[in-house]
Amino acid sequence: MLMMKEYGPLVDTHCHILPNLDDGPSCLEDSVSMARAAVGSGIHTIVATPHHGIGKYENISDFIIKNVICFNKELVVRKIPLLILAGQEVRVHSQLVEELYAGKILTLNGTRFILLELPSYGVPSYFDELLHEVSILGLRPVIAHPERNAQFLNKPMVLQRYVEQGALCQITAQSVMGLFGAKIQRFTINLCHNNWVHVVASDAHNLKSRPFLLEQSYEYLNKRIGKEQVQYFKDNALKIVRDEEIDSVIHMNKKKSWFVRWTYRNSYHKNW
Ligand SMILES: [Fe+2]
Repeated sequence: MLMMKEYGPLVDTHCHILPNLDDGPSCLEDSVSMARAAVGSGIHTIVATPHHGIGKYENISDFIIKNVICFNKELVVRKIPLLILAGQEVRVHSQLVEELYAGKILTLNGTRFILLELPSYGVPSYFDELLHEVSILGLRPVIAHPERNAQFLNKPMVLQRYVEQGALCQITAQSVMGLFGAKIQRFTINLCHNNWVHVVASDAHNLKSRPFLLEQSYEYLNKRIGKEQVQYFKDNALKIVRDEEIDSVIHMNKKKSWFVRWTYRNSYHKNW
């Protein structure tokens, strides 16, 4: 895990900014343009999360780390004040645990937090067992953009169960801003109201069709759900890259709510 004395005002924990690795930028200059745009919108730290385990894109940990080192050097040469950390957006697949043991999987900046991507149609039958295995290894799953998953959209209680068990949810800034449609935007805001969301990230791929919008999404959420919850999201992004514990606030219904504090090293695995 890379340690830093200071972090920028905004941390983006999910972004496809490295050149030529996946469906992000296809050349160095496009990556550099993204880096400049990120800094211009207040982002000073990005976890690069190339796709992995998706068939078309297989980016194992060593390869990603090498690319992150190269890109950070490029940013220094060009005097762009942005720090790139190494991560991976891991599509859930049946060999994931074996790959974890083999060292092919990269958590977010080498922390306890692992970014898991589900297929957009739903949740595979082995997902519960996978979460159990991941938790035994002392990792805490972060479910990438649950608001874009058809099964969660149709049956939100399926997602609630995972949140109650300690999984974290990362919504995407573009969903907040309505770029994936009004239905997903409504669902995203409802997830926030239910306290099932822990962090917002850009999932940016380029500057045209999949831009950052992180700053704009925070401004929008300030109005829709309030500054306190937005600050919680910002703080959690920082906690993720620092490998600090994240508190989950779970509202089971409107009348009754309670506070669940996860101490993953001692008790996290017992909660699955
Ligand atoms: Fe992504």
